[in-house]
Order: sequence, then structure tokens, then C-alpha cells
Amino acid sequence: MRAVAVFPSSKTISVVDHPEPAIECDTDVRLDVLDVGICGTDREIARFDYGTPPDGSPYLVLGHESLARVSAVGAGVGNIAVGDLVVTTVRRPCTQPWCRACRAGRQDFCFSGLFTERGINGRHGFMTERVVDDAQYMHVVPAHLRPVGVLVEPLTIAEKALIQVWDVQERLPWTAAGRSGDGHGQRAVVLGAGPVGLLGVLALLCRGFDVWVYSMDAADSFKARWVASVGARYVSSSTASLDALAQEVGNIDLIYEATGAAALSFDALRILGVNGVFVFTGVPGRKGPFEIDGSLVMRNMVLKNQLLFGTVNAGPDAFDSAIDDLATFYERWREPVTALITSRVQPDAAIQLLTTPPAGIKAVVSFRADA
Ligand code: BGC
Ligand code: ZN
Repeated sequence: MRAVAVFPSSKTISVVDHPEPAIECDTDVRLDVLDVGICGTDREIARFDYGTPPDGSPYLVLGHESLARVSAVGAGVGNIAVGDLVVTTVRRPCTQPWCRACRAGRQDFCFSGLFTERGINGRHGFMTERVVDDAQYMHVVPAHLRPVGVLVEPLTIAEKALIQVWDVQERLPWTAAGRSGDGHGQRAVVLGAGPVGLLGVLALLCRGFDVWVYSMDAADSFKARWVASVGARYVSSSTASLDALAQEVGNIDLIYEATGAAALSFDALRILGVNGVFVFTGVPGRKGPFEIDGSLVMRNMVLKNQLLFGTVNAGPDAFDSAIDDLATFYERWREPVTALITSRVQPDAAIQLLTTPPAGIKAVVSFRADA
């Protein structure tokens, strides 16, 4: 069966003939892969900057953003049936007995760093025709979300970030229990207009936030128009400074970073508002040091009760809320959500996509054309 794989030792990428997976235990589920999204992480792996094949394999099958259809289930699987659409999570737990996160099923918070990730780190990914995994890692997606279901995994990054934003903002005494999750009257700035940024925009809008997007593209670009079409505001960093942005927004309650650009992000810390939260989701490349005004940052953080946190990967709760949210987005913004997928290619064309600079928003490799 075909699979798109990287060979780190020889620095090559190719379509390989990969062994057919089989159901080996009662809780296994076999999937026909439908769509696999490509993101910055995949491009890093394709540049051989990141990524590790499973022990004993010369290659790593790529792909961690998946949508698949169930083709067979083990005897002990009750909650998933043949024909269901599913998204499978990426990260698998470490085996350290002392890792409280992994022992609690929350490998997205793994302490040991010995977790594995499908398509990234020590486990083959989904860029192949069929996969088998344990039912506990699968989340059923409603059938009508077939065209956009591949966006669930990138959306989980925003969902995990927002779950934590509510948790930490419970520190504000007037955020009465039960009201958390309500962003009405709050202002959020999203840095970056890639898939994780734009999906974050929709998640914030759904929760009632007023949302501004600050990114490089021009004010009349496709992304700027997309942002306006869903009801958020777009400010181009090529023509407006961070101070101009802050002037326009007023008190910024939340900055959701989705650029991976460290210098810009730290600079933006200074426009975070009183009692604000700043979330980092991007993983910057190693680019060498830059200067920041540390005492200004610290002064602001203390005098304005601010909070800064980073977040990676996602737990089962974020997958569930991503699926619910995607259904809401699809109802409310069908065209813009569908337009996030800017290219769909056959597996043979994946290598070209992985090794050229990204164009558009989300590129998807399609393994089956069924609708
Ligand atoms: C994936 C995450 C993963 C991270 C680091 C991201 O692209 O979406 O699931 O944890 O890369 O490997
Ligand atoms: Zn990704």
C-alpha cells in the first residue's frame, strides 16, 4: 500500500510501499484514510529538521492531521462502527510510571518528553491508504462534515488554548462559575492568518469575542477578505504598527499567537491589556537571539495582572470541542470554512507540496475521492 515517507538518514522523501496494517487486538479499529492535512510541522520534517522514524524503520510515514472512514472494528469496540468518519489523535503516552500526565491520559502535558506522535515522532502517520489504531484515540465526526473534517486536528490547537484561557481567567473574581466560556464584551487579537490562526478566529467569534487579526498579508488580500467575511477585523502588519492596532482595539483581553514568529510575538506582549492573557501556539525555528525590553515586559505583567502561557498538542476534550465547534462553523460560515482548504492533491503530488513554500491556507492530500 502507498505511503508518503521521509528517510532522514539519506534525506529523501518518496512514496513507498508500506505494509498493510492488521487488527491485532479487540480494541483496534481499521481505517481507510480519506484526507490528510499538511502543516508547518510536516514541512519541517520534510526539510529533515524534525521528525523521527519508529524504532527499526528507515523511514517515517508522514501525516498527523487526518480524516478517515472506519472499515473494520475489533470485537471489543462498542462506540465506533464501520462507516463512521473519525479523526485520530496524534500523541501517544510515554511509559514512565511517574509521568502523571500520561498516566492520566493527558500525554499532551507529558512531563518526560518520551511521548510519541503519529507522523512526527517515533510512530508512522496517516499519509497512507489504511491505518490501524486503538479506538480510545479516535473521535467520531458527523458524516456531513466529510468535506472539512480534516480541519479538526489543527482546530484542536485553538480549542486546547481556549479551554486553558477559561481555566486561568477563573482567577478573575467576577467570572462567576458557569459564565466561563463566554467571551461577550471581550476583545481578542489573533497574530497570524494561517490555519491555526483562522480556525482560532472562528472559535473566538463563536464564544462572543470581538476579534482582530494582525498579519502580514495586505489589507485587500484574500485572507483579509476572509477575515471580514466571518465578522472579524483585519489589520495588516505591513501598514499598521502594533501601537496602531492597540489604539484601534482598546483593552486587549486575549492575544492568541499563531505565527511562530518570536520577535513579533514578544513585541506584541507590550500591547496586551489589563488582566489580559497571552497564548503562544507557534513553534519558532532556531533563529538566533533578539532584544526585548525585559523590564517593560515584567513591569506590565505585574502592574496589569497579565498571564503568558504556551500550549502544544491537545487532549480528548479539545478534540470533542473541536468537532462540536466545526459543526457550528459549518452551519454558520459554510463557504469561508470550506475555503480554508485551498488545495487538494493526490498522494503522488504530496512531495511537491511538502517541499515548496506554503501557498494558500490549508493543503490537503486526498487518498479517496468518496464524498
Ligand atoms: C501538531 C501537534 C504536535 C506538534 C509538535 C503540531 O503540528 O499539530 O499535535 O504536538 O506539532 O510535534
Ligand atoms: Zn499540524
